[in-house]
Amino acid sequence: MLVGQRMSDLIGQTDLLRIPSLSALSGSDIYLKCEFQNPGGSIKDRAAKQLIEDAFERGELKPGMTVVEGTAGNTGIGLALVAKSYGLKMLAVMPNDQAPEKERMIALHGGELMAVDPVPFKNPNHFYHTARRIAEERSDCWWANQFENTSNARAHYLHTGPEIWQQMEGRIDTFVSVAGTGGTLGGNSKFFKEQDANIDVWLADPDGSGIYQFLKSGEYVANGGSMTEGIGIMRLVDNFRQASIDHAVNLPDQDLVTLSRYLREQDGIVLGSSSALNVAAALAAALHKGPGQRIVTFACDLGERSASKLYNEAYLKGRGLNPEPEPIEQLCERYANLGDNVLAKKWCGLE
Ligand SMILES: Cc1ncc(COP(=O)(O)O)c(C=O)c1O
Repeated sequence: MLVGQRMSDLIGQTDLLRIPSLSALSGSDIYLKCEFQNPGGSIKDRAAKQLIEDAFERGELKPGMTVVEGTAGNTGIGLALVAKSYGLKMLAVMPNDQAPEKERMIALHGGELMAVDPVPFKNPNHFYHTARRIAEERSDCWWANQFENTSNARAHYLHTGPEIWQQMEGRIDTFVSVAGTGGTLGGNSKFFKEQDANIDVWLADPDGSGIYQFLKSGEYVANGGSMTEGIGIMRLVDNFRQASIDHAVNLPDQDLVTLSRYLREQDGIVLGSSSALNVAAALAAALHKGPGQRIVTFACDLGERSASKLYNEAYLKGRGLNPEPEPIEQLCERYANLGDNVLAKKWCGLE
């Protein structure tokens, strides 16, 4: 698209980059879909656009109304910018432990911010319940509900998946993705499996998230915590249900330090923390399965959104992480020998 009619028309059609360093290192072509190129700087712009456009279509949203959403940040930024494109207002309910970079962007886009304490999901003051309650109480508000509203996964089924399929010329061996709401994993994996049922779908899970354990045992159990934001979840939601999964890996934050530094030095790519996890899992898939594959994953957002955590030495030390990256050869050796830590389990939420 060369000329957009509104800012939100510029969402999507992002570039695909073959990562030179990791492709050479692993003998597999590892591709990165550059979602930081979206106008709001993240993959969540796509969900924001679809959520709002579908709600207009259904007659739930009218100009002048306020979009309200509980968000770790990137969805809030996307919704704030799409809201302005459509004559809407935006209220983002956000846990107050998220990176200040994202709060600032929501405010810069004219969104209103409500910061709440981070509490477990069962607490009625959780950001998700707070957003829902506000929308229930105010008739001028519409709740986007990115977890259960499947317009989110539809954005990827209709657009991201087909874009990747075309860019990869219909040849994909392995698709790797983190999951927050599961919209990205759900919509893309559904589309890819319809094109080629042999595409191997890998879920990448951080510590502190229960998805890996859920796939393994049927129970959401988490160990530890992670500095990543916007990913990992402790309950089954409708967007995640759209997913078809073949393998899952759980990787520690220390590996994100190693890979983010390696790609910065070797390739000039500054990854956000969820993107570093995607790349780590893509490398793990390459080394676990052996050379000759075509693997695709995402740079979910701008690396600068992780400046205060992943790239902050004092923060890393405070979390007990070593700011010095592990030698890449050592990490590759570990990844080549993940063995049973790679969960081989076919799971499809719609079956
Ligand atoms: C930085 C980042 N990466 C990944 C995701 C996960 O995307 P999804 O919600 O489609 O699973 C999010 C979600 O907010 C995010 O903010």
